[in-house]
Amino acid sequence: MFEHEDSFGELNKPQSIEERLSYLHQALRARHPFLDRIAVALYNKDTDMLCTYVASSEQAQELDHYDAKLSDCSSLMEILERNQPRVVNDLSVFGAGTQVHTQLIDQGGYLSSYTLPLFAEGLFLGFVFFNSRQKNVFVERILRELDMAGHLMAFMLYGEQSRIKTLVATVRSAREISTHRDPETGSHLERMAHYSRLIAAELAERYGFSDSYIEHVFLFSPLHDIGKLTIPDNILLKPGKLSKEEFEVMQEHSRNGRDIIDKLLSNYGLDGVEYIELLKNIALYHHEAVDGSGYPEHLKQQDIPIEARIVSVADVFDALTSQRPYKAAWSNEEAFAKLREMAGTKLDRECVDALLKHSDRIVKIQKAFVENVFG
Ligand code: C2E
Ligand code: SIN
Ligand code: SIN
Ligand code: FE
Ligand code: FE
Repeated sequence: MFEHEDSFGELNKPQSIEERLSYLHQALRARHPFLDRIAVALYNKDTDMLCTYVASSEQAQELDHYDAKLSDCSSLMEILERNQPRVVNDLSVFGAGTQVHTQLIDQGGYLSSYTLPLFAEGLFLGFVFFNSRQKNVFVERILRELDMAGHLMAFMLYGEQSRIKTLVATVRSAREISTHRDPETGSHLERMAHYSRLIAAELAERYGFSDSYIEHVFLFSPLHDIGKLTIPDNILLKPGKLSKEEFEVMQEHSRNGRDIIDKLLSNYGLDGVEYIELLKNIALYHHEAVDGSGYPEHLKQQDIPIEARIVSVADVFDALTSQRPYKAAWSNEEAFAKLREMAGTKLDRECVDALLKHSDRIVKIQKAFVENVFG
């Protein structure tokens, strides 16, 4: 018998995905000092987008918040189609080739890469990228080790994703059980999730948001109005303006939403999910106004958690551009003008500016998630 220290013992500790990835990176680099960067990009099937999720490198986060349509990345498409990882032992051969590689070389000085596609339960999760500033380092012996590390990451990511998906699915089921009473359709929820992501990504540098923060804003934003489940039909579905008393009842959806989320989290044992505070803040504070005139707690400015300020802009923009029992849909231009008017009083100005900067992407999101009879 002899003592052995578990060389991956750190992974037993409750840690965020970033911490685990960065730990794995350190552990691998202790043995292979040339391994300068590990990054994971997750794939969203609905939009064909590949978004960086976690990246670990000792340098500033080059290519953080990077996203691209997978179908525009021919070399990555090829990896997927052939279902074969790719070793490039001299990235300089790409020269003017793929944009992303050019950026990588420019910003990080990387000269070789190993790109491994990740799957779980037959579904494509995304890619893990291993990069080095040296040429010709990714030899067979090393690759076998990186393959293991990559698949370990796939399990960790999938585990985390399935917990969140369970939560989101639970909330969606709850909505569907109260079927069709909710005027907010599935496509409203999809669109506002994408608007929220757009805003968060635009503000990332200024606020120091990580890619996984942005991803969680995206995942949690559709749950902002879960509290509307508790609002009686005669108010929720009223085809006209609400009376003062009715609007007071309506406003209870913020606190009720937060309560429902607390119950779901404890019923499903999900209290420990990363970033779960974001979800609670989004439900409770998405109707606060920066001038303090919002509800339920009349918070002002920076006291309103940033994720709630982000979701608020996404929600109002989509509410304005959608039909509701009480209003017709506005054009994008009308809604943009209204957002500008609300900026600085009701809505956070930076969040509004961040959304307005991307009118082209807004249109793309609207085309991808069109309103139809099935929502
Ligand atoms: P919602 O329909 O999802 O709207 C979300 C937010 O978008 C509203 O929050 C408001 O800030 C903004 N918004 C939506 N439509 C308009 C509009 O025509 N003009 C302006 N200036 N802003 C608009 P708010 O006001 O706190 O309302 C929360 C929820 O209460 C709404 O969610 C909706 O479900 C309900 N609601 C609000 N007003 C009425 C109404 O007059 N009739 C009915 N039936 N429901 C209403
Ligand atoms: C990345 O490392 O984030 C993308 C690189 C690639 O397209 O190979
Ligand atoms: C996407 O990432 O799915 C496209 C639009 C966005 O960035 O929100
Ligand atoms: Fe709401
Ligand atoms: Fe909404």
